[in-house]
Amino acid sequence: KRLILIGPPGSGKGTQSPIIKDEYCLCHLATGDMLRAAVAAKTPLGVKAKEAMDKGELVSDDLVVGIIDEAMKKPSCQKGFILDGFPRTVVQAQKLDEMLERQGAKIDKVLNFAIDDAILEERITGRWSHPSSGRTYHTKFAPPKVSGVDDVTGEPLIQRKDDTAAVLKSRLEAFHKQTEPVIDYYKNKGVVAELHAEKPPKEVTAEVQKVLSS
Ligand code: AP5
Ligand code: ZN
Repeated sequence: KRLILIGPPGSGKGTQSPIIKDEYCLCHLATGDMLRAAVAAKTPLGVKAKEAMDKGELVSDDLVVGIIDEAMKKPSCQKGFILDGFPRTVVQAQKLDEMLERQGAKIDKVLNFAIDDAILEERITGRWSHPSSGRTYHTKFAPPKVSGVDDVTGEPLIQRKDDTAAVLKSRLEAFHKQTEPVIDYYKNKGVVAELHAEKPPKEVTAEVQKVLSS
């Protein structure tokens, strides 16, 4: 399957991705995770992306389209993939269509993580991340076994630099202005499935499974 996960910051894309990935053996391409790795490694790409990310603004279409174009060539992505956080603008969606057309492929489903903005601040400010695996925790909703430590590796957890109430405001603004039109773009193609992303994680997983098995 070729899937796209769209939703505002904190809507649960990164939480559901590993579960879908394990069940369907897809590759998980999260542009946010890839950009954060580039920023941490201070690569030329990371240096270019950092300023926008710190402010909660979108990185330029050319940069992210380049990353995705490269990543999708991986053999593990040929049979199917989960795009988490991409496309985020209509231009990115059009570029993705061009890439897929070249391979004779198309998007099967777009999962729309629909949720009220008001819930997101608590989710974002309580999040703790394990950068190398992409695993995330939440102080209240999904606490790690030992506070501040990853369950699997025992390595320390971090808080993302953009996970503050102030930066969340700009991230939400970018979502409503630039990314919501992408949902309409796919609605016109008839491939969007709506999720109730405000429900507890297990219930959202059940909704995802229902959509993907139909
Ligand atoms: P990115 O990393 O994609 O961030 P985002 O879209 O803001 O999404 P988040 O990762 O914050 O949310 P999520 O939905 O994954 O939530 P999670 O599951 O972790 O992008 C970061 C930046 O990179 C952007 O601002 C931009 O600058 C740049 N960028 C990336 N892609 C780009 C692109 N295509 N174009 C241009 N720029 C790009 O959940 C959050 C918390 O809530 C966790 O603690 C979790 O445990 C908890 N939680 C999850 N689900 C539930 C639930 N159902 N109930 C209760 N708690 C829950
Ligand atoms: Zn995420």
